[in-house]
Amino acid sequence: MNVLIGGTGFLGNAVAEEMVKRKLPLRCLVRKDSDTSKLKQLGVELFEGDARDNNSLKKVTEGAESVISSFTTRLFKRPKAAYFWDNDYQGNFNLIQLAREQKVKKYIFVSYWGLAKFGDFEHGKAKKSVEDLLKISGLDYTIFRVTTLATDMSVLLGNSLKKKGWAPMFMKREEKVRPILLEDLARCMVDALDNKRASYKVVEVAGEEEYTFVELRDLFSKVLDKKVRFVFVPSKLAYFVAGIIDILTDRVYNAKGLVSAFTGGSTCDISEMKDIFSINQGSFAKYLEDYFQNSPGPEKK
Ligand SMILES: NC(=O)c1ccc[n+]([C@@H]2O[C@H](COP(=O)([O-])OP(=O)(O)OC[C@H]3O[C@@H](n4cnc5c(N)ncnc54)[C@H](OP(=O)(O)O)[C@@H]3O)[C@@H](O)[C@H]2O)c1
Repeated sequence: MNVLIGGTGFLGNAVAEEMVKRKLPLRCLVRKDSDTSKLKQLGVELFEGDARDNNSLKKVTEGAESVISSFTTRLFKRPKAAYFWDNDYQGNFNLIQLAREQKVKKYIFVSYWGLAKFGDFEHGKAKKSVEDLLKISGLDYTIFRVTTLATDMSVLLGNSLKKKGWAPMFMKREEKVRPILLEDLARCMVDALDNKRASYKVVEVAGEEEYTFVELRDLFSKVLDKKVRFVFVPSKLAYFVAGIIDILTDRVYNAKGLVSAFTGGSTCDISEMKDIFSINQGSFAKYLEDYFQNSPGPEKK
């Protein structure tokens, strides 16, 4: 039995779909109020619980051969910095312990690309700590360091551009972004379950197409069929405002850390990813076109 935590998320849904396509058995831990409609359609086994509750984790991992950890604190619910430690870090810490006890054959973890960029960002620090735990756990792991998921570009940025016609941007015009399609990442993750070349590996992953932020703006203008604008906010100004927010809120949101995560581009060399997984990736431009043709798409929960 393979166990997925975070199956109701964007990436988790895609992983579950890929597992079902390959006829691999799957059990998902879902929270009481999660939207499980897609997982129900897929017919995977659902197990109600919470990653912060060790008993749920204990039960869901019983007899597991592999654990796929794709869960995360939902960033756009304005989480307090401490949540990342209580949820992302502690949940994975407990899962890793249980995976060792169950002698699971594989642990797959979804992390951030360019962790240095997230050095001051609590979520990045928590991800890095989980990576470090996995490396000394004795488990066979594959860590996927993701640049940007295509859904963040369409659901978050795209829908906002569609509505308002503009969006603030902390990146510089010439910086680059390389979004990865969910189904492509999901294929790599499921492939990693028994791909020996992915064993004990940290793999940086990104999409096939790379865009500067000016090119990205032009792409959005094309697919939305209207001129949209990015208002490029100088990072010094963003840090200054975030610093004030941190002082006023006693740093509970770590606004400066959040700015550090959203400053600078998001791209990486994908040659190792291609070498290990040899998949043909889909086109981000085509994905965006399809998304807005079939709009309104899913709302970020
Ligand atoms: N989005 C990006 O651009 C990006 C970039 C780099 C890395 N990543 C990583 O990729 C992974 C997937 O991201 P995503 O955008 O697909 O996430 P998402 O859509 O925000 O989904 C988060 C998932 O985690 C679940 N979850 C959170 N806390 C939980 C808990 N305590 N117990 C059980 N389930 C819990 C959520 O369940 P509910 O449905 O109940 O809320 C949901 O299924 C994450 O590890 C994320 O950090 C994302």
